[in-house]
Amino acid sequence: MPGFEFWGAEERKEVNDVLETGILMRYGFDGPRKNIWKANELEAAICDTFKCGHAQLLSSGTAALTTALAALGVGAGDEVIMPCFTFVASFEAVLSVGAIPVMVDIDETLTLNPEAVRAAITPQTKCVMPVHMCGSMADMDELLGICKQYNLLLLEDACQSIGGSYKGKMLGTIGHAGTFSFDFVKTITCGEGGVVMTNSLDIYEKCDGYTDHGHDHKGVDRGADLHPFIGYNFRISELHAAVGLAQIRKLSKILATQKKNNLQLRAILNQVEEVTYRKVPDPAGDNFAFLSWFLPTEELTKAFVAEMKSQNALAGNFYWYINNWHYITKWDHLKNVVTLNGQTPAITAGLKKYANQNFADSDAIMSRCISTAISLSWTEEQIQVKGEQMVAALKKVIAEQWVEV
Ligand SMILES: Cc1ncc(COP(=O)(O)O)c(C=O)c1O
Repeated sequence: MPGFEFWGAEERKEVNDVLETGILMRYGFDGPRKNIWKANELEAAICDTFKCGHAQLLSSGTAALTTALAALGVGAGDEVIMPCFTFVASFEAVLSVGAIPVMVDIDETLTLNPEAVRAAITPQTKCVMPVHMCGSMADMDELLGICKQYNLLLLEDACQSIGGSYKGKMLGTIGHAGTFSFDFVKTITCGEGGVVMTNSLDIYEKCDGYTDHGHDHKGVDRGADLHPFIGYNFRISELHAAVGLAQIRKLSKILATQKKNNLQLRAILNQVEEVTYRKVPDPAGDNFAFLSWFLPTEELTKAFVAEMKSQNALAGNFYWYINNWHYITKWDHLKNVVTLNGQTPAITAGLKKYANQNFADSDAIMSRCISTAISLSWTEEQIQVKGEQMVAALKKVIAEQWVEV
């Protein structure tokens, strides 16, 4: 997810524009800022690039999810259905608005299994949150159908899938709201940052206020703003927005490079007939940030990981199943409700359920899955070497296991 690999003079120029005025805040100071409005410019570029009605920048993707949930009216005691494979930020955001994250199984799309979503709906369910993990998407037709049938909100966590699409619509713009992260390792980066996208003016205006202490931004100056509701400070700075502005102009080059490198690596892995690939509901909409693939068994997958480690060549191949950040088996702090300041009885009861919940269907997928991160800076020769090394390791562990059997 490497926008930072295309770092250069363009980012420096945008940042320097801000440094020259010294106005690092996105609001106010109309005179001294000399008409430099990087956050406003980036929001306009986001609406234009991703074809959405409104965009609200924030300080992070986590703040974007939190803000979107608040603006959608998700709060105390509401349940949000989400996948058990995601980044911890997705459930942190749900908890931060007082709602209960309800984790359910994934399928071979590596995100929400629509049947598991249906089975988890209760009278408290308010929102379904697919996470478009590792550059590709959830089965949006199915999920939109479920949300319509049960009158639920749909919030897309598209933090890892900037530039991906589903049947012609950009990921993050399909549900009631959607989010991107612009942290340092995302497809485009601001250093730190995020955005909520929506086609609803009402949701947008709520996001706008929520990220800035509830200011309605309608006064002649900040002191004259009204506060129709309580907000927080999730503002992005002009410096971060300036970086993002240079990056978004590089998006099509980033996506094209990712695709080219991804497909070259995939063609090499195709030599191994035991390798299969993640299901992509709309293959044309993959953002190609990762090549996610499966082996037939957990044992083979673990053997491959061990073999690559022994060659000091595992870097960039993510075995999420044993990764502390991304899969439910490792989220003991969540399952044991370990917080610094206590939790509501409803959240505590909701989280305690995970101790006995069976995620065998997801285990059967995640234990066989590797996601190979695609770099923009690889040369064709480097991809060839990398791919051949993976193929050799795969053939070795497959042959060894065959002999053992
Ligand atoms: C799926 C997902 N959601 C949310 C986030 C949070 O984004 P940020 O790091 O900008 O807070 C991330 C970041 O890695 C992510 O991968």
